[in-house]
Amino acid sequence: MSNDLKPHMAIVKDITIENSNTKTYVLEFADKQQHKNFTWDPGQFMMLSLFGVGEAALSISNIPEDGLISTTIRAVGNVTKKIKELKKGDTLGMRGPYGTGWPIKEAKGKNILLIAGGMGLAPLRGVINHIAIKRNNFGHLEIIYGARTPNDMIFTNQFRDWYQIEKSRLDLTVDGIPPGTPWEGKIGLVTSCFPAMKTRPQNSVALVCGPEVMMRFVAKCLETIGFKENQIFLSLERRMKCGIGKCGHCQLGPKYVCKDGPVFPYRDIKPYINPL
Ligand SMILES: Cc1cc2nc3c(=O)[nH]c(=O)nc-3n(C[C@H](O)[C@H](O)[C@H](O)COP(=O)(O)OP(=O)(O)OC[C@H]3O[C@@H](n4cnc5c(N)ncnc54)[C@H](O)[C@@H]3O)c2cc1C
Ligand code: FES
Repeated sequence: MSNDLKPHMAIVKDITIENSNTKTYVLEFADKQQHKNFTWDPGQFMMLSLFGVGEAALSISNIPEDGLISTTIRAVGNVTKKIKELKKGDTLGMRGPYGTGWPIKEAKGKNILLIAGGMGLAPLRGVINHIAIKRNNFGHLEIIYGARTPNDMIFTNQFRDWYQIEKSRLDLTVDGIPPGTPWEGKIGLVTSCFPAMKTRPQNSVALVCGPEVMMRFVAKCLETIGFKENQIFLSLERRMKCGIGKCGHCQLGPKYVCKDGPVFPYRDIKPYINPL
């Protein structure tokens, strides 16, 4: 009998340091055929495990076209701090992909507004790279990315490429700057970038990921400027155990974040995320 919760052995092929607490890991299933057959949609997540330590839900942070499974991990607790110690060639457990991805097919022909806070850029990087490759399939691309400080940003080595994507705009902001840190972007919350925003609601979708309080503010501001609830998509985080809709740990009203999400149309979850 097959066991859906059984992790498969994966090997760390490469590691990129994003900032003092965050690294991007390129992973490969030890079973070459399994790796070859593996595919996913940007926005889906994996369950990564270290034997004797535990499991954690981590978004896939690139696109299948790259042929590499990568995940960008901030070391915050038991599992993620141990993953931070891994080196190239080390192994870990991996199962997935799970959950819903961003509505990329439905967004074809539309303007795309991406709003990310902190680690929220990880599940959105695949969308940006997909649009860069399939540029003619989409309208204007606008990325608004905010972090606590410049030192907390991730994927900074890709910003130069993103600035050069045709018909696009990248706006960066931070809450504050530690003394001596160079910074040429804005200072303020992501919503402080809204007055300069180019995207208008007509024929547009907004994809939002970040701390839940930030997403609630952003969704509310987007509604104020005319976005409808079904044009806004949020990626939610809840404590996960099984990742496959069996244990109830991630329940949100009548929905399971692991199975029905993590990406939800705002319309479907608005009543269940805390009001401002
Ligand atoms: C769908 C999904 C995708 C995710 N993608 C990423 C990703 O791409 N990169 C990444 O770094 N993290 C991601 N996370 C968050 C990640 O799962 C948690 O940080 C992780 O579970 C921590 O595991 P741990 O054992 O290291 O921490 P623990 O030892 O379990 O906890 C350490 C601390 O972190 C807090 N914490 C743990 N999990 C969460 C959580 N889910 N939300 C808020 N606080 C939490 C705890 O309250 C505690 O204070 C994602 C979570 C979900 C649900
Ligand atoms: S994590 Fe078990 S039901 Fe979602």
